[in-house]
Amino acid sequence: MDVEISDLTIRLLDKICEIENQCFEQEAFTKQQIACLITDYNTIGLTALVNGEVAGFAIARVNIIRNVTFGHILTIDVASAYRRKGIAQKLLREIETILRERGIRECRLEVRENNAAALNLYRKLGYTEMGKLEKYYGTAHGLYLTKSLQ
Ligand SMILES: CC(C)(COP(=O)(O)OP(=O)(O)OC[C@H]1O[C@@H](n2cnc3c(N)ncnc32)[C@H](O)[C@@H]1OP(=O)(O)O)[C@@H](O)C(=O)NCCC(=O)NCCS
Repeated sequence: MDVEISDLTIRLLDKICEIENQCFEQEAFTKQQIACLITDYNTIGLTALVNGEVAGFAIARVNIIRNVTFGHILTIDVASAYRRKGIAQKLLREIETILRERGIRECRLEVRENNAAALNLYRKLGYTEMGKLEKYYGTAHGLYLTKSLQ
């Protein structure tokens, strides 16, 4: 299966929102939020195409908090028909490469404590826990993960 990773463009907004809604339901980013993110200079948005179809996407932002600059993965979504084929790994690795090219040496993200698929993915790629986020998702807890991009 050939997976082509390319920049996310506003042209794909409807398809991206459809996948985001499938993946996150009530917690999904709205169309307006995704449109703002895609067009923001500090955002890195990538899509994974299989035979020209959008199979998944990822959006990250460059953040600066207390003089520390880091990449922040905001969302990573793979449509259910395309899961367990290495697409999320490809998207995440490509985002990390772009962050490194911009001189950024750390990547962080939040994940639901019980999201086994995502946690396995992040651990496989070397992310480690830097904190617990109590009731970050309503009543559900989250974990704050980090990876050094040195
Ligand atoms: C999490 C998600 C992005 C993974 O996408 P994917 O393309 O299927 O992941 P990959 O095929 O690249 O898998 C990479 C690794 O992640 C782990 N993984 C992925 N799906 C898994 C599952 N259902 N159960 C357990 N581990 C899983 C495995 O370690 C896998 O490596 P392996 O296949 O060699 O065992 C996808 O399940 C998804 O879109 N989920 C809904 C949205 C979501 O929860 N996003 C993350 C929010 S923090």
